[in-house]
Amino acid sequence: MLRTHNCGELREQQIGEKVTLSGWVQKSRDLGGLTFIDLRDRYGITQLTFNMDENAALCEQARKLGREFVIQIQGTVRERSSKNDQLPTGNIEIDVDEIKVLNKSKTPPFTIESETDGGEELRMKYRYLDLRRPPLQEKLILRSKLAMQIRNYLSGEDFIEVETPYLIKSTPEGARDFVVPSRMHEGEFYALPQSPQTFKQLLMVSGYDKYFQIVKCFRDEDLRADRQPEFTQIDCEMSFVEQEDVLDTFEAMMKKVVKEIKGVDLPKFPRMSYAEAMEKYGSDKPDLRFGMEFHNLNELAQGKGFNVFDQSDLVVGINAEGCAEYSRKQLDALTNYVKTPQVGAKGLVYVKLNEDGTIKSSVDKFYSQEDLQAWADKMGASKGDLLLVLSGDTNPTRSAMNALRLHMGKELGLRKGDEFAPLWVVDFPLLEADEESGAMHAMHHPFTSPKVEDLDKLESAPLEVRANAYDMVINGVELGGGSIRIADRPTQEKMLSLLGFSDEEAKAQFGFLMDAFEYGTPPHGGIAFGFDRICALLGGTDSIRDYIAFPKNNAGRDVMIDAPAKVDDEQLEELHLKVVKK
Ligand code: AMO
Repeated sequence: MLRTHNCGELREQQIGEKVTLSGWVQKSRDLGGLTFIDLRDRYGITQLTFNMDENAALCEQARKLGREFVIQIQGTVRERSSKNDQLPTGNIEIDVDEIKVLNKSKTPPFTIESETDGGEELRMKYRYLDLRRPPLQEKLILRSKLAMQIRNYLSGEDFIEVETPYLIKSTPEGARDFVVPSRMHEGEFYALPQSPQTFKQLLMVSGYDKYFQIVKCFRDEDLRADRQPEFTQIDCEMSFVEQEDVLDTFEAMMKKVVKEIKGVDLPKFPRMSYAEAMEKYGSDKPDLRFGMEFHNLNELAQGKGFNVFDQSDLVVGINAEGCAEYSRKQLDALTNYVKTPQVGAKGLVYVKLNEDGTIKSSVDKFYSQEDLQAWADKMGASKGDLLLVLSGDTNPTRSAMNALRLHMGKELGLRKGDEFAPLWVVDFPLLEADEESGAMHAMHHPFTSPKVEDLDKLESAPLEVRANAYDMVINGVELGGGSIRIADRPTQEKMLSLLGFSDEEAKAQFGFLMDAFEYGTPPHGGIAFGFDRICALLGGTDSIRDYIAFPKNNAGRDVMIDAPAKVDDEQLEELHLKVVKK
């Protein structure tokens, strides 16, 4: 080894010892007679000292070291005269006898410290330098620890990790596929898996009983803070289980990892049906760290001459407790917020329940004090509170109110980083209709089983059929989703036909799975978690990007390696993607 210790481990116990350290020059300070260097590696920072009076040549050599030079030093550990209680190694320093430059560095384009002056784009281009910074290192270390704990937990429960292929045929999870042209088979393409869904089901047919895999998945979809085109799932499947068994197993897993990583005991996860989540929170992933539930005001607010409400399918309100004193400016800001294209409401109605007992609203022309008091009573509001009301078609209004509720929750500091509010959302609809074409899609995926008690509606009212599907949600983040699967050919055929597949198409795309179902298939079900999202949640940030060593930017590019990139004509030709003019 080129060192006897790392840069984070020396303490007072080692005072007097001769040591060799290696690392990066983070900073050097020249105080005339004395020069100090902070030597950094993944484990920490150790201060090196050089004394002009004792060894002028060495001191000169130290002064010439630039930021991010990689050096090896030998010296003696000694007590610091001025201690630094911010650093674990802050009670000692190294009196250096010898420096060896292992490698030089150009001046880095931004400072490599916890707080940096580098902008996002620059840091992405020099990701390998950004990754040297302690906050990013902490995040990747957390990720590694979490993966280890999950592996330990699942192997302890008899799950085995099996790798499934990346060069496959399309598996529909609702996004577009990334495709890979085949050189050997002209005009044919592999697809990269959106998830290993069909393979994990086949492993159940093969009798593996409990499977898991921490696995890359690929989806060509628009990026957001919690979405990357390649991301990692903790993908799991179990045989001979019902929904309750899956929920129990993975609730226990999540409790264990949150306890080990955060020291927090999660409560028993409450359950909420999809229908209830949509009605009370306008979202299938409600953030339950705070209340502010929706209240339907149709009965109270319609029929009083206010056209906007009378013409709406839904009039819905939330109670922002203690906000009656919001100023005109604050209310205007909220109105502007709900009118932004991403929220999409046409306007916002407010009702202030003033401390003096009077009520002031933006619709005083249409509603008496008694009318407004009835709204307040229905919403459990009292003096000092502010009611915020939206109206319109049901789905867009719920979705706008969800945005407003989350916005208010944030503004009022109710979405605390150190609180965890878990939830299982259950009883998802099996199908959803495309708004434009009316075509039906599987809400989860086509392999999800319908609830037995709703089977009679499969023909007559397919959109009312509920699925054996569930999502784990914590703090408004969908961490994972899964279902109990269809395990027989006729039901799978029926499902695919409902989704508009002809018999031939169904056979061509999923014949292998349906064939397998005919050879003794155990009842089975599972779940997949977004591993990057769990990391971000436990690390206390919204963006999953920081937990991925080499992520893509918002435009789906890797600006460091400059991908995607063109390939040359020869390669295109070999892949049968270019017609060559002879
Ligand atoms: P689903 O599509 O719900 O289910 O995905 C499971 C979980 O993966 C995470 N996730 C993502 N994370 C980051 N970037 C993305 N682009 C992205 N897309 C999804 C989410 C999500 O909850 N095969 C099924 C699982 C099953 O039925 O067992 C599936 O993939 O946290």
